[in-house]
Amino acid sequence: MSGILNSSIGRKVAMALSAFFLMIFLLQHFAINILSVFSPDTFNEVSHFMGTFWVIQYVLQPVLIFGVVFHFVMGFILELKNTKSRQVSYAKNNGGANSSWMSRNMIWSGLAILAFIGLHFYDFWFPEINTKFIVGDMSGLIDPNTADSGFRYFEELQHKFHSHVRTIIYVIAFIFLALHLLHGFNSAFQSVGANNKYTKGLQGFGKVYAILIPLGFIFIAVFHHLKHVLS
Ligand code: HEM
Repeated sequence: MSGILNSSIGRKVAMALSAFFLMIFLLQHFAINILSVFSPDTFNEVSHFMGTFWVIQYVLQPVLIFGVVFHFVMGFILELKNTKSRQVSYAKNNGGANSSWMSRNMIWSGLAILAFIGLHFYDFWFPEINTKFIVGDMSGLIDPNTADSGFRYFEELQHKFHSHVRTIIYVIAFIFLALHLLHGFNSAFQSVGANNKYTKGLQGFGKVYAILIPLGFIFIAVFHHLKHVLS
């Protein structure tokens, strides 16, 4: 394994595979969170299932966290290696002439997403882990001592988007996510050697995904914020 990660192509393929994995996660994460707009009850039910089903909790979630950390660490390593080899190979590097702004700034859009994930974990993940594993309340209810207390997931989510500042930070992060995905999707396909009659179609799909998913997340954040402001 370390042999594969020591070669340049091995690192690129590993980076691409972790990117595909995270893109699948993003799609399911969007599918669940958009329910909070259209059907709060379904959102609550699905969140409770996701938060208590052991396969998701103890198998998929650790794999996901590993995938996120791996992607960021590999991203930094690739960036460092690229910077070193650029210094050696090109006396004059006219970046704008042969690469897009997005491809040259993947490290910056990646860092913006990393900062967002820090805030996002503080907002949603740590409170969830705290409630379940420190307080010891696995019920998912607002007040487990009251018979008719509903699930807390939707209430908690809505509450996070009361703040103007947090909503703006989320929207900016989703714009960086779109920029990162716009280059990342095609780059990941190139790294795994996908070059055939489907390439054009995949590139088109990549563009649509990179724009629609972040736009969808923006819609969720702005929807809950406006609902609060206008009520
Ligand atoms: C408006 C948009 C979003 C909302 C409302 C939202 C909501 C949530 C919620 C409620 C959780 C806690 C799930 C749990 O109980 O553990 C969560 C976790 C998480 N979110 Fe988001 N999320 C959004 C966008 C994003 C984006 C764009 C990313 C990635 C760039 C992301 C990455 C994660 C990760 C890695 C976790 C922890 C893993 C998990 O528990 O599923 N989220 N999010």
